[in-house]
Amino acid sequence: MRGLFITLEGPEGGGKSTNREYLAERLRALGHEVVLTREPGGTQLAEKIRALLLAEHDEPMAVDAELLLMFAARAQHINQLIVPALTAGRLVLCDRFTDATYAYQGGGRGIDPQRIAVLEAFVQGALRPDLTLLFDLPVEAGMARARQRGALDRFEQEHQDFFEAVRHSYLQRAAAEPQRFRVLDAGQRLGQVQQQLEPVLQEILERVHAH
Ligand code: TMP
Repeated sequence: MRGLFITLEGPEGGGKSTNREYLAERLRALGHEVVLTREPGGTQLAEKIRALLLAEHDEPMAVDAELLLMFAARAQHINQLIVPALTAGRLVLCDRFTDATYAYQGGGRGIDPQRIAVLEAFVQGALRPDLTLLFDLPVEAGMARARQRGALDRFEQEHQDFFEAVRHSYLQRAAAEPQRFRVLDAGQRLGQVQQQLEPVLQEILERVHAH
């Protein structure tokens, strides 16, 4: 028995969390067991690593330390939550996963994606998302929405070029794997984004029933 592993990706301010809740509500109303989770984080210990990653420190965090902490949190999350949920046949909706590492640590910080791929294979084995929803948004709009939410974390304080590189990496990955990615225009109003989610929801239901 294997559930479905669905990830949501995109910049801050792209409405990932709101849309994740919306999808979960719709799927639960149809009687499906849905597990909502996020990265970095998702378990008690992984959330502690998240706090380390997002906070400001007295010394700069080395980019490789950041990368390894992302994968340390992921290893814990996979082991404690994702694999057990999938084994129990559940539908896992995860706010960010390894595509975020390719986008932020790869695109944003400039780490060679081949080095990320080594860690991906090491930590995940064959585990990959079944479906990935990319909430794409122009950089300015995402930054403005994130600023409205108050205090900015270590990533949100980055500059426009960082986020342009993040967006570019995400779009490149989506173009390279069209069978896994669904790209949504997150610049539209919430109701319109939810309309874009309608065919995605149908697809999820078809896949759940095919399992
Ligand atoms: P969130 O605020 O969307 O929950 O994500 C926390 C931050 O962590 C966000 O700025 C993106 C960043 N991040 C990475 O840099 N690499 C990763 O692998 C993940 C999962 C998140």
